[in-house]
Amino acid sequence: TTSQATTSQLEGRRVVISAGGTREPIDPVRFLGNRSSGKQGYALAVVAARRGATVTLVAANPSLPTPSGVTVVPVSTALELQSAVERAAKDADVVVMAAAVADFRPAQYADAKIKKTHDPDQPDAAPTIQLVRNPDILAGLVEARGEEASPVIVGFAAETGDDRGGVLEHARDKLARKGCDLLVVNEVGLDKTFGQDENTVHILRLGSSHVTEAGPASKELVAAAVWDAVQEIL
Ligand code: CTP
Ligand code: CA
Repeated sequence: TTSQATTSQLEGRRVVISAGGTREPIDPVRFLGNRSSGKQGYALAVVAARRGATVTLVAANPSLPTPSGVTVVPVSTALELQSAVERAAKDADVVVMAAAVADFRPAQYADAKIKKTHDPDQPDAAPTIQLVRNPDILAGLVEARGEEASPVIVGFAAETGDDRGGVLEHARDKLARKGCDLLVVNEVGLDKTFGQDENTVHILRLGSSHVTEAGPASKELVAAAVWDAVQEIL
C-alpha cells in the first residue's frame, strides 16, 4: 500500500544528520556562535526515522526535545562535531550536514574570564580575539569516501545574493567546490529561515542542471523533499 511504501523507503539504511550550531569558546562564560535553531536538522531526523532509517543525530548545542526513535549525540564545538560525525559516518549510507559549523574558532581559550579592564596600562582598551580556521567537515567526508564507506553526502548552504552573483550561482559554485552529492540551499536574510517554522529551499544535484524547489513549507515537508532526492541516489 501507499502508506507502507512511504514508511519503509529508508528501511535498513543508516543515516547520520548533523544539526544545530556550533559554539567556539572564548573563555568560561563566552563563545562565538550562530543563529541556527536546529529545527531543519531535527525535521530531517524525524522524517528519516518515520521512513524506517536508523538515525544518528549529531546535535550541536541542542535546545529541542530528542525525537523518538533517534539516537542523539550532543556536541558543542566544530572539532567535537567533526569527531562525532566522522565516527558515525564509518558505517552510514547517508550523511547530511545540516549543522551550521563555525568557520573559525578563537586561537586561544582563556582559562579565566576575560575582564573588561584586561590591561591595567590601558584601562579603556578592548582586547583582540585571534581566530583560526576550523576544518571543513563536509569536504573531509567527501575526501574520505571509499576508504571505509561510500555514503551519499548532503550539504546545506545558507546563501545571500551579492554583487558577485545570485543565490543559485553561489550555490552551484559551492556544490562544485564541496563535491557532495546534493546541496540544499536556503536563501537567508535577517528575518528569513533562522528560527522560523517554514522554509524554502532549492535542492541541487552534482552534475545535473535540474533544481528541485521545496516550500515555502514546514521544515518536515522540506525534509521529505530532501529524503526523496536522497532516495533517488541510493
Ligand atoms: N561545513 C562543514 N565544516 C565547516 C563549514 C561548513 O562541514 N567548517 C558544512 C556545513 O554543515 C554545510 C556546508 O558545509 O553543510 C556549507 O556550509 P557553508 O557555511 O555554506 O560553506 P562554507 O564552505 O563554509 O562557505 P562560506 O564562506 O559561504 O561560509
Ligand atoms: Ca561557512
